[in-house]
Amino acid sequence: MSRVIVAPSILSADFNHLLEDIKKVEEAGADWLHFDVMDGHFVPNISFGQPVLKCIAKSHHMVNDVHIMISDPFKYAPEFIKAGADYLTFHYEACKNDKEVFQVIDLIHDYGAKAGLSIKPNTPIEKVFPFLYSLDLVLIMSVEPGFGGQKYIPESFTKIFRLKEYMVSNDIKKCLIEVDGGINDETAKNAKLAGVDVLVAGSYLFGHDDIKERIEKLR
Ligand code: DX5
Ligand code: ZN
Repeated sequence: MSRVIVAPSILSADFNHLLEDIKKVEEAGADWLHFDVMDGHFVPNISFGQPVLKCIAKSHHMVNDVHIMISDPFKYAPEFIKAGADYLTFHYEACKNDKEVFQVIDLIHDYGAKAGLSIKPNTPIEKVFPFLYSLDLVLIMSVEPGFGGQKYIPESFTKIFRLKEYMVSNDIKKCLIEVDGGINDETAKNAKLAGVDVLVAGSYLFGHDDIKERIEKLR
């Protein structure tokens, strides 16, 4: 089984020492930096946007894994890519129909980034199947999007497993599977067993002195 990618979510970082916290996770061996954008409309919380991404995107060498939990992703996608997103992941539920999902995927690719599609816990995994040949990543939310520090939803295992099974049986190799929410050394085992490629972790990593050991435990 290939080595799982670890993506710390800066939503749980100390914003008084953001750059130091980013350096800490990078030196501890993190591969990607997960950047949670929330607009207070698609999700009931507001986090940060393009200006902050622009500031930090080039301050490290990890992949900038931007997760936009916002309405109207078509309108804002180009700005996040110009601000430094390497992967830009938007929500299926933020689009009116499948046609719009394809339009956002194409727009992300036109601007030179990799396209990810995320689904909330209550959205069936089958909803992403029509887009898999165009996507670079599927992000399965294992918590209700909007906040860090929530509990992992165990049913996420079945969604990851079902997606992996579908991708293998349809020979879809390009698309990565990412899981996000409530990931720690225990729940990571569950997600990896199901076939996940990328683990997002916020509160399990930031704010602890043993980040290196914690990243190794996730792996
Ligand atoms: C939630 C975000 C997650 C969250 C992860 O809406 O998408 O990335 O920050 O935080 P933890 O790992 O603490 O659940
Ligand atoms: Zn996220």
